[in-house]
Amino acid sequence: MSDIIAQLEAKRAEAYMGGGQKRIDKQHAQGKLTARERVEVLLDENSFEELGMYVEHNCVDFGMEKNKIPGDGVVTGSGTINGRLVFVFSQDFTVFGGSLSERHAEKICKVMDNAMKVGAPVIGINDSGGARIQEGVASLGGYAEVFQRNVLASGVVPQLSLIMGPCAGGAVYSPAMTDFIFMVKDSSYMFVTGPDVVKTVTNEVVTQEELGGAITHSTKTSVADVAYENDIEALLAARDFIDFMPLSNREDVPERPTADPWDRMEESLDMLIPANANQPYDIHEVISKMVDEGDFFEVQPKHAANIICGFGRIEGKTVGVVANQPMVLAGVLDINSSKKAARFVRYCDAFNIPIITLVDVPGFLPGTAQEHNGIIKHGAKLLFAYAEATVPKITIITRKAYGGAYDVMASKHLRGDLNYAWPTAEIAVMGAKGAVEIIFRGKTPEEIAEHTAEYEARFANPFVAAQKGFVDEVIMPHSTRKRVALGLRKLRNKELENPWKKHDNIPL
Ligand code: HXC
Repeated sequence: MSDIIAQLEAKRAEAYMGGGQKRIDKQHAQGKLTARERVEVLLDENSFEELGMYVEHNCVDFGMEKNKIPGDGVVTGSGTINGRLVFVFSQDFTVFGGSLSERHAEKICKVMDNAMKVGAPVIGINDSGGARIQEGVASLGGYAEVFQRNVLASGVVPQLSLIMGPCAGGAVYSPAMTDFIFMVKDSSYMFVTGPDVVKTVTNEVVTQEELGGAITHSTKTSVADVAYENDIEALLAARDFIDFMPLSNREDVPERPTADPWDRMEESLDMLIPANANQPYDIHEVISKMVDEGDFFEVQPKHAANIICGFGRIEGKTVGVVANQPMVLAGVLDINSSKKAARFVRYCDAFNIPIITLVDVPGFLPGTAQEHNGIIKHGAKLLFAYAEATVPKITIITRKAYGGAYDVMASKHLRGDLNYAWPTAEIAVMGAKGAVEIIFRGKTPEEIAEHTAEYEARFANPFVAAQKGFVDEVIMPHSTRKRVALGLRKLRNKELENPWKKHDNIPL
Protein backbone atom coordinates (compact mmCIF):
# COMPACT_ATOMS: atom_id res chain seq x y z
CA MET A 1 0.00 0.00 0.00
CA SER A 2 2.73 2.43 1.00
CA ASP A 3 4.40 1.73 -2.37
CA ILE A 4 1.24 2.68 -4.19
CA ILE A 5 0.88 5.85 -2.17
CA ALA A 6 4.51 6.70 -2.84
CA GLN A 7 3.88 6.13 -6.56
CA LEU A 8 0.87 8.41 -6.46
CA GLU A 9 2.86 11.08 -4.67
CA ALA A 10 5.67 10.78 -7.19
CA LYS A 11 3.22 11.09 -10.06
CA ARG A 12 1.63 14.14 -8.47
CA ALA A 13 5.02 15.72 -7.89
CA GLU A 14 5.88 15.10 -11.54
CA ALA A 15 2.62 16.73 -12.68
CA TYR A 16 3.19 19.72 -10.37
CA MET A 17 6.55 20.34 -12.01
CA GLY A 18 4.89 20.77 -15.43
CA GLY A 19 7.59 21.36 -18.04
CA GLY A 20 10.34 21.44 -15.40
CA GLN A 21 12.17 23.95 -13.25
CA LYS A 22 14.03 25.60 -16.13
CA ARG A 23 10.82 26.48 -17.93
CA ILE A 24 9.15 27.55 -14.68
CA ASP A 25 12.07 29.90 -14.03
CA LYS A 26 11.69 31.31 -17.55
CA GLN A 27 8.01 31.92 -16.91
CA HIS A 28 8.82 33.74 -13.65
CA ALA A 29 11.59 35.74 -15.32
CA GLN A 30 8.97 37.08 -17.74
CA GLY A 31 6.92 38.29 -14.77
CA LYS A 32 4.34 35.53 -15.26
CA LEU A 33 2.99 33.08 -12.73
CA THR A 34 2.69 29.39 -13.58
CA ALA A 35 -0.67 27.82 -14.36
CA ARG A 36 -1.05 26.38 -10.86
CA GLU A 37 0.13 29.55 -9.11
CA ARG A 38 -2.54 31.45 -11.02
CA VAL A 39 -5.24 29.05 -9.90
CA GLU A 40 -4.07 29.44 -6.31
CA VAL A 41 -4.37 33.24 -6.43
CA LEU A 42 -7.73 33.06 -8.18
CA LEU A 43 -9.47 30.61 -5.86
CA ASP A 44 -10.12 30.49 -2.13
CA GLU A 45 -7.26 28.92 -0.22
CA ASN A 46 -7.20 25.11 -0.53
CA SER A 47 -10.47 25.08 -2.43
CA PHE A 48 -9.08 23.88 -5.76
CA GLU A 49 -9.95 20.33 -6.67
CA GLU A 50 -7.95 19.30 -9.68
CA LEU A 51 -9.25 16.74 -12.15
CA GLY A 52 -7.38 15.18 -15.05
CA MET A 53 -3.92 15.61 -13.59
CA TYR A 54 -2.64 12.45 -15.25
CA VAL A 55 -4.08 12.97 -18.71
CA GLU A 56 -1.43 12.57 -21.41
CA HIS A 57 -1.48 13.30 -25.12
CA ASN A 58 -2.00 10.52 -27.69
CA CYS A 59 0.35 11.80 -30.37
CA VAL A 60 2.81 9.36 -31.91
CA ASP A 61 4.40 11.61 -34.52
CA PHE A 62 7.69 13.52 -34.33
CA GLY A 63 8.87 11.38 -31.39
CA MET A 64 6.07 12.69 -29.21
CA GLU A 65 5.30 9.18 -27.94
CA LYS A 66 8.49 9.48 -25.87
CA ASN A 67 7.69 12.96 -24.65
CA LYS A 68 4.69 12.96 -22.36
CA ILE A 69 4.02 15.26 -19.42
CA PRO A 70 1.12 14.49 -17.05
CA GLY A 71 -1.67 17.01 -17.39
CA ASP A 72 -0.74 17.75 -21.02
CA GLY A 73 -0.40 21.50 -20.63
CA VAL A 74 -3.61 22.48 -18.92
CA VAL A 75 -4.63 22.43 -15.25
CA THR A 76 -8.36 21.84 -14.87
CA GLY A 77 -10.87 21.55 -12.05
CA SER A 78 -13.13 23.52 -9.78
CA GLY A 79 -12.94 25.56 -6.61
CA THR A 80 -14.58 28.48 -4.89
CA ILE A 81 -14.34 32.25 -4.95
CA ASN A 82 -15.57 33.66 -1.67
CA GLY A 83 -17.33 30.36 -1.12
CA ARG A 84 -19.10 30.20 -4.48
CA LEU A 85 -18.39 27.43 -6.99
CA VAL A 86 -16.47 28.13 -10.21
CA PHE A 87 -14.85 25.90 -12.83
CA VAL A 88 -11.38 26.70 -14.07
CA PHE A 89 -8.88 25.76 -16.73
CA SER A 90 -5.39 27.21 -16.72
CA GLN A 91 -3.02 26.58 -19.61
CA ASP A 92 0.52 25.69 -18.62
CA PHE A 93 3.00 27.38 -20.94
CA THR A 94 5.84 25.30 -19.48
CA VAL A 95 4.33 22.17 -21.09
CA PHE A 96 4.70 22.26 -24.89
CA GLY A 97 4.10 26.01 -24.72
CA GLY A 98 0.57 25.46 -23.35
CA SER A 99 -0.32 24.32 -26.88
CA LEU A 100 -3.66 22.66 -27.40
CA SER A 101 -3.66 18.95 -28.19
CA GLU A 102 -6.69 16.72 -28.63
CA ARG A 103 -6.46 15.58 -25.00
CA HIS A 104 -5.79 19.10 -23.72
CA ALA A 105 -8.99 20.19 -25.48
CA GLU A 106 -10.90 17.26 -23.99
CA LYS A 107 -9.89 18.42 -20.53
CA ILE A 108 -11.19 21.94 -21.20
CA CYS A 109 -14.42 20.52 -22.64
CA LYS A 110 -14.93 18.39 -19.54
CA VAL A 111 -14.62 21.46 -17.33
CA MET A 112 -17.16 23.30 -19.45
CA ASP A 113 -19.56 20.35 -19.54
CA ASN A 114 -19.39 20.02 -15.75
CA ALA A 115 -19.97 23.75 -15.29
CA MET A 116 -23.02 23.58 -17.54
CA LYS A 117 -24.37 20.53 -15.74
CA VAL A 118 -24.39 22.18 -12.33
CA GLY A 119 -24.67 25.83 -13.39
CA ALA A 120 -21.46 27.62 -12.40
CA PRO A 121 -19.15 30.12 -14.12
CA VAL A 122 -16.18 29.04 -16.25
CA ILE A 123 -12.93 30.94 -15.91
CA GLY A 124 -10.33 30.21 -18.57
CA ILE A 125 -6.72 31.27 -18.07
CA ASN A 126 -5.09 31.41 -21.49
CA ASP A 127 -1.33 31.12 -22.02
CA SER A 128 -0.70 29.07 -25.12
CA GLY A 129 1.28 28.76 -28.33
CA GLY A 130 -1.95 27.70 -30.07
CA ALA A 131 -2.62 24.45 -31.88
CA ARG A 132 -0.18 21.64 -30.90
CA ILE A 133 1.78 21.64 -34.12
CA GLN A 134 2.76 17.96 -33.85
CA GLU A 135 -0.91 16.93 -33.75
CA GLY A 136 -2.19 18.85 -36.75
CA VAL A 137 -5.87 18.51 -37.48
CA ALA A 138 -6.61 16.67 -34.20
CA SER A 139 -5.76 19.91 -32.47
CA LEU A 140 -7.99 21.94 -34.78
CA GLY A 141 -10.83 19.57 -33.98
CA GLY A 142 -10.13 20.14 -30.29
CA TYR A 143 -10.47 23.88 -30.72
CA ALA A 144 -13.76 23.51 -32.52
CA GLU A 145 -15.08 21.32 -29.68
CA VAL A 146 -14.23 24.12 -27.25
CA PHE A 147 -15.79 26.76 -29.53
CA GLN A 148 -19.03 24.80 -29.73
CA ARG A 149 -19.21 24.65 -25.94
CA ASN A 150 -18.49 28.38 -25.63
CA VAL A 151 -21.54 29.02 -27.74
CA LEU A 152 -23.81 26.59 -25.91
CA ALA A 153 -22.69 28.00 -22.56
CA SER A 154 -23.24 31.60 -23.67
CA GLY A 155 -26.11 33.06 -21.68
CA VAL A 156 -26.27 29.94 -19.46
CA VAL A 157 -23.19 30.33 -17.26
CA PRO A 158 -20.91 33.38 -17.07
CA GLN A 159 -17.66 32.84 -19.00
CA LEU A 160 -14.59 34.91 -18.15
CA SER A 161 -11.28 34.73 -20.03
CA LEU A 162 -7.99 35.84 -18.56
CA ILE A 163 -5.31 36.27 -21.21
CA MET A 164 -1.92 35.86 -19.56
CA GLY A 165 0.39 34.99 -22.42
CA PRO A 166 0.21 34.38 -26.14
CA CYS A 167 -3.18 33.76 -27.69
CA ALA A 168 -2.93 33.65 -31.47
CA GLY A 169 -4.45 32.22 -34.61
CA GLY A 170 -7.91 30.70 -34.41
CA ALA A 171 -7.33 30.21 -30.67
CA VAL A 172 -8.44 33.79 -30.06
CA TYR A 173 -11.99 32.84 -30.97
CA SER A 174 -12.67 30.88 -27.83
CA PRO A 175 -12.02 33.87 -25.52
CA ALA A 176 -13.78 36.10 -28.05
CA MET A 177 -16.97 34.13 -27.52
CA THR A 178 -16.81 34.37 -23.74
CA ASP A 179 -18.55 37.20 -21.89
CA PHE A 180 -15.58 39.18 -20.61
CA ILE A 181 -11.85 39.27 -21.30
CA PHE A 182 -9.18 40.56 -18.93
CA MET A 183 -5.63 40.97 -20.25
CA VAL A 184 -2.24 41.64 -18.67
CA LYS A 185 -0.11 44.49 -19.98
CA ASP A 186 3.18 43.61 -21.72
CA SER A 187 2.85 39.84 -21.30
CA SER A 188 -0.32 38.91 -23.14
CA TYR A 189 -1.45 39.37 -26.69
CA MET A 190 -4.24 38.27 -29.00
CA PHE A 191 -4.15 38.32 -32.79
CA VAL A 192 -5.34 36.22 -35.69
CA THR A 193 -2.01 36.55 -37.48
CA GLY A 194 1.18 37.75 -35.81
CA PRO A 195 3.60 40.54 -36.79
CA ASP A 196 5.63 38.32 -39.18
CA VAL A 197 2.61 37.37 -41.29
CA VAL A 198 1.37 40.96 -41.18
CA LYS A 199 4.74 42.11 -42.53
CA THR A 200 4.65 39.54 -45.35
CA VAL A 201 1.10 40.24 -46.41
CA THR A 202 0.67 43.97 -45.89
CA ASN A 203 4.27 45.15 -45.46
CA GLU A 204 3.31 46.79 -42.15
CA VAL A 205 5.87 46.67 -39.37
CA VAL A 206 4.21 46.33 -36.00
CA THR A 207 5.14 44.92 -32.60
CA GLN A 208 3.14 42.20 -30.85
CA GLU A 209 2.08 44.73 -28.23
CA GLU A 210 0.85 47.27 -30.79
CA LEU A 211 -0.88 44.64 -32.86
CA GLY A 212 -2.71 42.80 -30.11
CA GLY A 213 -1.49 43.75 -26.64
CA ALA A 214 -3.64 44.56 -23.64
CA ILE A 215 -3.65 48.31 -24.31
CA THR A 216 -4.64 47.89 -27.95
CA HIS A 217 -7.50 45.56 -27.10
CA SER A 218 -8.83 47.47 -24.12
CA THR A 219 -8.75 50.86 -25.87
CA LYS A 220 -9.04 50.51 -29.66
CA THR A 221 -10.63 47.20 -30.49
CA SER A 222 -12.78 46.50 -27.40
CA VAL A 223 -11.83 42.82 -27.68
CA ALA A 224 -10.67 43.02 -24.04
CA ASP A 225 -12.60 44.62 -21.20
CA VAL A 226 -9.81 45.62 -18.86
CA ALA A 227 -5.99 45.69 -18.98
CA TYR A 228 -4.13 44.92 -15.74
CA GLU A 229 -0.52 45.54 -14.72
CA ASN A 230 0.33 41.94 -13.84
CA ASP A 231 -1.07 38.46 -13.27
CA ILE A 232 -1.89 39.00 -9.60
CA GLU A 233 -3.82 42.21 -10.21
CA ALA A 234 -5.85 40.52 -12.97
CA LEU A 235 -6.59 37.44 -10.86
CA LEU A 236 -7.69 39.48 -7.84
CA ALA A 237 -9.90 41.57 -10.12
CA ALA A 238 -11.43 38.35 -11.45
CA ARG A 239 -12.34 37.41 -7.87
CA ASP A 240 -14.05 40.78 -7.34
CA PHE A 241 -15.79 40.42 -10.66
CA ILE A 242 -17.16 36.94 -9.98
CA ASP A 243 -18.61 38.26 -6.70
CA PHE A 244 -21.05 40.31 -8.80
CA MET A 245 -22.12 37.44 -11.02
CA PRO A 246 -24.96 34.99 -10.59
CA LEU A 247 -23.74 31.41 -10.90
CA SER A 248 -25.95 30.78 -13.93
CA ASN A 249 -29.03 32.02 -15.72
CA ARG A 250 -31.11 29.82 -13.40
CA GLU A 251 -29.90 31.58 -10.27
CA ASP A 252 -30.68 34.94 -8.73
CA VAL A 253 -27.96 37.54 -8.48
CA PRO A 254 -25.79 37.04 -5.40
CA GLU A 255 -26.48 39.05 -2.28
CA ARG A 256 -23.66 40.51 -0.23
CA PRO A 257 -24.38 41.98 3.20
CA THR A 258 -23.92 45.74 3.29
CA ALA A 259 -23.93 48.37 6.01
CA ASP A 260 -24.73 51.10 3.51
CA PRO A 261 -28.23 52.48 4.29
CA TRP A 262 -30.65 51.83 1.43
CA ASP A 263 -32.13 55.33 1.86
CA ARG A 264 -28.83 57.21 2.11
CA MET A 265 -29.38 60.78 0.89
CA GLU A 266 -26.71 62.48 -1.21
CA GLU A 267 -27.35 66.21 -0.94
CA SER A 268 -24.32 66.98 -3.12
CA LEU A 269 -26.12 65.50 -6.14
CA ASP A 270 -28.59 68.39 -6.01
CA MET A 271 -25.72 70.69 -7.04
CA LEU A 272 -24.09 68.40 -9.59
CA ILE A 273 -25.69 69.60 -12.82
CA PRO A 274 -23.98 72.82 -14.02
CA ALA A 275 -26.13 75.84 -14.81
CA ASN A 276 -24.79 75.86 -18.37
CA ALA A 277 -26.24 72.92 -20.31
CA ASN A 278 -23.07 72.64 -22.38
CA GLN A 279 -20.81 72.23 -19.39
CA PRO A 280 -19.83 68.65 -18.59
CA TYR A 281 -19.87 66.89 -15.23
CA ASP A 282 -18.71 63.44 -14.24
CA ILE A 283 -21.52 60.89 -14.20
CA HIS A 284 -19.22 58.57 -12.20
CA GLU A 285 -20.16 60.72 -9.23
CA VAL A 286 -23.82 59.74 -9.54
CA ILE A 287 -22.92 56.08 -9.97
CA SER A 288 -20.62 55.93 -6.97
CA LYS A 289 -23.11 57.78 -4.78
CA MET A 290 -25.93 55.50 -5.92
CA VAL A 291 -24.41 52.03 -5.48
CA ASP A 292 -23.54 50.29 -2.20
CA GLU A 293 -20.35 51.65 -0.66
CA GLY A 294 -19.40 53.28 -3.97
CA ASP A 295 -18.23 49.86 -5.19
CA PHE A 296 -18.44 49.82 -8.98
CA PHE A 297 -16.76 47.36 -11.37
CA GLU A 298 -16.47 49.16 -14.68
CA VAL A 299 -16.01 47.18 -17.89
CA GLN A 300 -14.27 48.67 -20.90
CA PRO A 301 -13.40 51.88 -19.02
CA LYS A 302 -10.90 52.87 -21.72
CA HIS A 303 -13.02 52.14 -24.76
CA ALA A 304 -15.90 54.38 -25.86
CA ALA A 305 -15.73 56.23 -22.56
CA ASN A 306 -18.72 58.35 -23.67
CA ILE A 307 -20.80 55.53 -22.23
CA ILE A 308 -20.08 53.83 -18.93
CA CYS A 309 -21.01 50.22 -18.29
CA GLY A 310 -20.38 48.23 -15.13
CA PHE A 311 -21.65 46.37 -12.14
CA GLY A 312 -22.58 47.67 -8.72
CA ARG A 313 -24.94 46.62 -5.93
CA ILE A 314 -28.07 48.07 -4.42
CA GLU A 315 -29.08 46.63 -1.05
CA GLY A 316 -26.41 43.98 -1.58
CA LYS A 317 -27.73 42.75 -4.92
CA THR A 318 -26.00 43.13 -8.26
CA VAL A 319 -27.21 45.68 -10.78
CA GLY A 320 -25.84 46.61 -14.19
CA VAL A 321 -25.34 50.34 -14.71
CA VAL A 322 -25.30 52.04 -18.10
CA ALA A 323 -24.63 55.79 -18.11
CA ASN A 324 -23.93 58.41 -20.74
CA GLN A 325 -20.76 60.28 -19.74
CA PRO A 326 -21.01 64.04 -20.41
CA MET A 327 -17.24 64.35 -19.84
CA VAL A 328 -16.45 62.47 -23.06
CA LEU A 329 -17.88 63.70 -26.39
CA ALA A 330 -20.73 65.20 -24.35
CA GLY A 331 -22.05 61.67 -23.79
CA VAL A 332 -23.11 61.29 -27.41
CA LEU A 333 -24.08 57.88 -28.79
CA ASP A 334 -21.75 56.74 -31.56
CA ILE A 335 -20.88 53.42 -33.13
CA ASN A 336 -18.48 52.26 -30.43
CA SER A 337 -20.59 53.32 -27.46
CA SER A 338 -23.70 51.73 -28.96
CA LYS A 339 -21.93 48.41 -29.50
CA LYS A 340 -20.35 48.49 -26.07
CA ALA A 341 -23.58 49.18 -24.21
CA ALA A 342 -25.66 46.80 -26.36
CA ARG A 343 -23.46 43.86 -25.47
CA PHE A 344 -23.54 44.84 -21.81
CA VAL A 345 -27.33 45.18 -21.72
CA ARG A 346 -27.71 41.77 -23.37
CA TYR A 347 -25.36 40.21 -20.82
CA CYS A 348 -27.37 41.66 -17.94
CA ASP A 349 -30.61 40.49 -19.49
CA ALA A 350 -29.28 36.97 -20.06
CA PHE A 351 -28.26 36.69 -16.40
CA ASN A 352 -31.24 38.38 -14.74
CA ILE A 353 -29.27 41.41 -13.64
CA PRO A 354 -31.50 44.52 -13.34
CA ILE A 355 -30.36 47.47 -15.44
CA ILE A 356 -30.12 51.03 -14.12
CA THR A 357 -29.70 53.57 -16.92
CA LEU A 358 -28.51 57.13 -16.28
CA VAL A 359 -29.31 59.35 -19.23
CA ASP A 360 -27.61 62.54 -20.34
CA VAL A 361 -27.40 62.21 -24.09
CA PRO A 362 -27.40 64.93 -26.75
CA GLY A 363 -28.24 62.42 -29.52
CA PHE A 364 -26.36 60.33 -32.07
CA LEU A 365 -23.02 61.61 -33.36
CA PRO A 366 -23.39 63.23 -36.80
CA GLY A 367 -20.85 62.94 -39.63
CA THR A 368 -19.81 60.90 -42.64
CA ALA A 369 -17.42 58.77 -40.56
CA GLN A 370 -20.30 57.57 -38.42
CA GLU A 371 -22.86 57.24 -41.21
CA HIS A 372 -20.51 55.44 -43.60
CA ASN A 373 -19.38 53.06 -40.91
CA GLY A 374 -22.93 52.07 -40.11
CA ILE A 375 -24.18 54.07 -37.13
CA ILE A 376 -27.67 53.07 -38.25
CA LYS A 377 -26.96 49.38 -37.82
CA HIS A 378 -24.78 49.77 -34.73
CA GLY A 379 -27.08 52.24 -33.00
CA ALA A 380 -29.89 49.80 -33.66
CA LYS A 381 -28.00 47.22 -31.60
CA LEU A 382 -28.46 49.24 -28.45
CA LEU A 383 -32.07 50.01 -29.26
CA PHE A 384 -32.68 46.31 -29.91
CA ALA A 385 -30.90 45.23 -26.74
CA TYR A 386 -32.93 47.54 -24.49
CA ALA A 387 -36.19 46.71 -26.25
CA GLU A 388 -35.79 42.95 -25.92
CA ALA A 389 -34.54 43.04 -22.31
CA THR A 390 -37.09 41.73 -19.82
CA VAL A 391 -35.11 42.29 -16.61
CA PRO A 392 -36.14 45.16 -14.30
CA LYS A 393 -35.20 48.42 -16.00
CA ILE A 394 -34.97 51.69 -14.07
CA THR A 395 -34.06 54.84 -15.96
CA ILE A 396 -33.06 58.23 -14.58
CA ILE A 397 -32.71 61.19 -16.90
CA THR A 398 -30.30 63.60 -15.27
CA ARG A 399 -30.12 66.20 -18.03
CA LYS A 400 -30.40 65.85 -21.80
CA ALA A 401 -32.48 63.17 -23.46
CA TYR A 402 -32.67 64.31 -27.04
CA GLY A 403 -34.03 62.78 -30.19
CA GLY A 404 -33.72 59.09 -31.07
CA ALA A 405 -31.23 58.69 -28.24
CA TYR A 406 -34.05 59.50 -25.78
CA ASP A 407 -35.99 56.53 -27.14
CA VAL A 408 -32.96 54.25 -27.13
CA MET A 409 -31.81 54.83 -23.57
CA ALA A 410 -34.32 52.53 -21.83
CA SER A 411 -37.23 54.88 -22.37
CA LYS A 412 -40.74 54.14 -21.14
CA HIS A 413 -41.66 53.09 -24.67
CA LEU A 414 -39.07 50.28 -24.56
CA ARG A 415 -40.76 48.82 -21.49
CA GLY A 416 -38.80 50.84 -18.95
CA ASP A 417 -40.36 49.84 -15.61
CA LEU A 418 -39.62 53.01 -13.71
CA ASN A 419 -38.60 56.12 -15.59
CA TYR A 420 -37.45 58.95 -13.38
CA ALA A 421 -36.15 62.39 -14.24
CA TRP A 422 -34.22 64.88 -12.20
CA PRO A 423 -35.70 68.43 -12.25
CA THR A 424 -32.77 69.37 -14.51
CA ALA A 425 -33.91 66.96 -17.25
CA GLU A 426 -34.50 68.27 -20.76
CA ILE A 427 -36.46 65.85 -22.89
CA ALA A 428 -36.89 67.06 -26.44
CA VAL A 429 -36.38 66.27 -30.10
CA MET A 430 -33.14 68.25 -30.03
CA GLY A 431 -31.41 71.12 -28.24
CA ALA A 432 -33.33 74.42 -28.19
CA LYS A 433 -30.98 76.36 -30.47
CA GLY A 434 -30.87 73.67 -33.16
CA ALA A 435 -34.64 73.28 -33.05
CA VAL A 436 -35.30 77.02 -33.37
CA GLU A 437 -32.82 77.41 -36.23
CA ILE A 438 -34.83 74.83 -38.18
CA ILE A 439 -38.32 76.07 -37.32
CA PHE A 440 -37.41 79.76 -37.72
CA ARG A 441 -34.94 79.54 -40.59
CA GLY A 442 -33.99 82.99 -41.95
CA LYS A 443 -34.87 84.95 -38.79
CA THR A 444 -32.46 87.50 -37.32
CA PRO A 445 -30.07 86.45 -34.54
CA GLU A 446 -32.18 88.46 -32.05
CA GLU A 447 -35.34 86.65 -33.08
CA ILE A 448 -33.56 83.31 -32.91
CA ALA A 449 -32.38 84.12 -29.39
CA GLU A 450 -35.90 85.05 -28.36
CA HIS A 451 -37.43 81.89 -29.80
CA THR A 452 -34.66 79.81 -28.25
CA ALA A 453 -35.55 81.18 -24.83
CA GLU A 454 -39.22 80.38 -25.52
CA TYR A 455 -38.38 76.85 -26.67
CA GLU A 456 -36.20 76.27 -23.63
CA ALA A 457 -38.93 77.45 -21.29
CA ARG A 458 -41.43 75.18 -23.00
CA PHE A 459 -39.39 72.02 -23.58
CA ALA A 460 -36.13 72.09 -21.58
CA ASN A 461 -37.71 70.41 -18.58
CA PRO A 462 -39.02 67.01 -17.56
CA PHE A 463 -42.65 68.06 -17.16
CA VAL A 464 -43.90 67.74 -20.75
CA ALA A 465 -42.76 64.11 -20.72
CA ALA A 466 -44.14 63.65 -17.19
CA GLN A 467 -47.54 65.00 -18.27
CA LYS A 468 -47.65 62.33 -20.93
CA GLY A 469 -46.62 59.59 -18.48
CA PHE A 470 -43.31 58.99 -20.28
CA VAL A 471 -41.62 59.94 -17.02
CA ASP A 472 -43.15 58.33 -13.95
CA GLU A 473 -41.87 60.85 -11.44
CA VAL A 474 -39.58 63.85 -11.22
CA ILE A 475 -37.30 63.02 -8.31
CA MET A 476 -34.84 64.98 -6.23
CA PRO A 477 -31.27 64.06 -7.20
CA HIS A 478 -30.36 63.48 -3.53
CA SER A 479 -32.97 60.71 -3.29
CA THR A 480 -31.72 58.75 -6.31
CA ARG A 481 -30.34 55.79 -4.36
CA LYS A 482 -33.48 55.50 -2.27
CA ARG A 483 -35.77 55.63 -5.31
CA VAL A 484 -33.70 53.01 -7.11
CA ALA A 485 -33.67 50.73 -4.06
CA LEU A 486 -37.44 51.05 -3.63
CA GLY A 487 -37.93 50.43 -7.33
CA LEU A 488 -35.83 47.29 -7.29
CA ARG A 489 -37.74 45.95 -4.28
CA LYS A 490 -40.97 46.43 -6.19
CA LEU A 491 -39.60 44.81 -9.32
CA ARG A 492 -38.08 41.79 -7.60
CA ASN A 493 -40.82 39.47 -8.83
CA LYS A 494 -41.22 41.07 -12.23
CA GLU A 495 -42.40 38.63 -14.87
CA LEU A 496 -42.21 39.52 -18.51
CA GLU A 497 -41.68 37.25 -21.48
CA ASN A 498 -41.05 37.99 -25.12
CA PRO A 499 -43.08 36.06 -27.72
CA TRP A 500 -41.72 32.57 -28.50
CA LYS A 501 -39.14 32.49 -31.25
CA LYS A 502 -36.14 30.37 -32.15
CA HIS A 503 -33.99 33.43 -31.62
CA ASP A 504 -34.18 37.07 -32.59
CA ASN A 505 -32.22 38.69 -35.38
CA ILE A 506 -30.36 41.55 -33.70
CA PRO A 507 -28.63 43.73 -36.35
CA LEU A 508 -25.13 42.26 -35.98
C1 HXC B 1 3.84 22.70 -29.92
C2 HXC B 1 4.84 24.55 -29.05
C3 HXC B 1 3.91 25.39 -29.70
C4 HXC B 1 2.92 24.77 -30.50
C5 HXC B 1 5.25 26.64 -28.61
N1 HXC B 1 5.65 25.38 -28.40
N2 HXC B 1 4.20 26.67 -29.43
N3 HXC B 1 4.79 23.23 -29.15
N4 HXC B 1 2.91 23.43 -30.57
N5 HXC B 1 2.01 25.49 -31.13
C6 HXC B 1 6.73 24.94 -27.55
C7 HXC B 1 8.10 25.31 -28.13
O1 HXC B 1 8.54 24.30 -28.99
C8 HXC B 1 8.94 25.35 -26.87
O2 HXC B 1 9.25 24.06 -26.48
C9 HXC B 1 7.98 25.89 -25.83
O3 HXC B 1 6.68 25.65 -26.35
C10 HXC B 1 8.13 27.36 -25.59
O4 HXC B 1 8.18 28.00 -26.84
P1 HXC B 1 9.23 29.14 -27.19
O5 HXC B 1 9.15 29.37 -28.64
O6 HXC B 1 10.55 28.78 -26.61
O7 HXC B 1 8.65 30.34 -26.34
P2 HXC B 1 8.64 31.87 -26.71
O8 HXC B 1 9.96 32.31 -27.24
O9 HXC B 1 8.09 32.57 -25.50
O10 HXC B 1 7.59 32.02 -27.92
C11 HXC B 1 6.23 31.74 -27.70
C12 HXC B 1 5.50 31.68 -29.05
C13 HXC B 1 6.23 30.72 -30.02
C14 HXC B 1 5.46 33.08 -29.66
C15 HXC B 1 4.08 31.23 -28.76
O11 HXC B 1 6.47 29.49 -29.32
C16 HXC B 1 5.48 30.41 -31.25
O12 HXC B 1 5.45 31.21 -32.17
N6 HXC B 1 4.88 29.22 -31.27
C17 HXC B 1 4.15 28.77 -32.44
C18 HXC B 1 2.85 29.49 -32.53
C19 HXC B 1 2.00 28.94 -33.64
O13 HXC B 1 2.33 29.15 -34.83
N7 HXC B 1 1.02 28.17 -33.24
C20 HXC B 1 0.10 27.57 -34.18
C21 HXC B 1 -0.86 28.68 -34.53
S1 HXC B 1 -2.12 28.10 -35.54
P3 HXC B 1 10.56 23.72 -25.63
O14 HXC B 1 10.56 22.22 -25.57
O15 HXC B 1 11.70 24.31 -26.39
O16 HXC B 1 10.35 24.36 -24.30
C22 HXC B 1 -3.29 27.81 -34.48
C23 HXC B 1 -4.55 27.41 -35.14
C24 HXC B 1 -5.65 27.35 -34.16
O17 HXC B 1 -3.18 27.90 -33.32
C25 HXC B 1 -6.86 27.24 -34.98
C26 HXC B 1 -8.05 27.10 -34.14
C27 HXC B 1 -9.25 27.09 -34.99
